[in-house]
Amino acid sequence: MHTIEITNLTKTYRKKPTPALDHLTLAVDKGMFGLLGKNGAGKSTLMKILTTLEQPTTGNAVVCGIPLSQPQAIRDLIGYLPQNFAFYPNMTVANALAYLATLANVPVRAQRQRIAQLLADVNLTAKAHTKVRQLSGGMLQRLGIAQALINNPQVLIVDEPTAGLDPEERIRFRNLLTDFSSERTVLLSTHIVSDVEATTNQIGVLDHGQLLFTGTTNALITAATGHVFQALVPREAAVQFKQTHQISEQVTQADQSHFRFIAASSSQTPVTPTLEEAYLYLQTQHEGAGV
Ligand SMILES: Nc1ncnc2c1ncn2[C@@H]1O[C@H](COP(=O)(O)OP(=O)(O)OP(=O)(O)O)[C@@H](O)[C@H]1O
Ligand SMILES: [Mg+2]
Repeated sequence: MHTIEITNLTKTYRKKPTPALDHLTLAVDKGMFGLLGKNGAGKSTLMKILTTLEQPTTGNAVVCGIPLSQPQAIRDLIGYLPQNFAFYPNMTVANALAYLATLANVPVRAQRQRIAQLLADVNLTAKAHTKVRQLSGGMLQRLGIAQALINNPQVLIVDEPTAGLDPEERIRFRNLLTDFSSERTVLLSTHIVSDVEATTNQIGVLDHGQLLFTGTTNALITAATGHVFQALVPREAAVQFKQTHQISEQVTQADQSHFRFIAASSSQTPVTPTLEEAYLYLQTQHEGAGV
């Protein structure tokens, strides 16, 4: 049995003609799964449905064997870090967690130890008595993870958790999720390709509410192999070259530019695609098909 099974899920918001999710079918297993997609692709909508905060228009999903029609049972199983996590700014970190622990029905006598453990896990022990409004962006996201883990969930759903973090914090944050995913399921959404490159090899690419791809990062790279090329272009021809090619990388030297670009075919030298290039190729192909 898959941890999450999504079948033919469609979500249409009122006042919006095109569906945010369009007959989406997807299975997610234990470990880390990266959901990639650009702005408006439908990532947050999918996560809100899985966490029972929104209801699908048609179709269904099952989390750990429990259908969406049993929202409380699902909420007991999952932890969720929303895209714009905010918290009462004047509470201290420890009090904020105690408050949430109470809401999550963690017994009062177990709360102290549980909160101490969570703070240690997310490296915020030193900030236990700091007010939430005094935390940096990275610390706030780590508090967000701590709150999502308060009920020791089997499934953790995190919506673009690394946006706005500096590189050091991003890496620390990814490692935290990776540790957690060794025994459970983590569904991570992002539009930053390197986030999934570093943390997971199971990915799904969402676009206009449809799944363009699901599989391993290697399979996505394989699919783009033969469609990424490099070329050395003299300085005076560089502008024209850029206008006529889909450039993925440019390094300019004194009298020439080194380009990598994406194309269905080319007489230039093929190169091994990076994950980012493979992702771009997939998007291009889809747009080319007029969808
Ligand atoms: N409450 C809502 N009412 C109407 N339309 C909405 C609502 N929430 C989202 N949408 C629309 O549904 C589509 C999918 O939005 P969603 O927030 O799920 O995308 P996303 O992939 O999370 O994007 P982002 O990367 O910007 O967070 C978008 O076109 C968005 O405008
Ligand atoms: Mg979103």
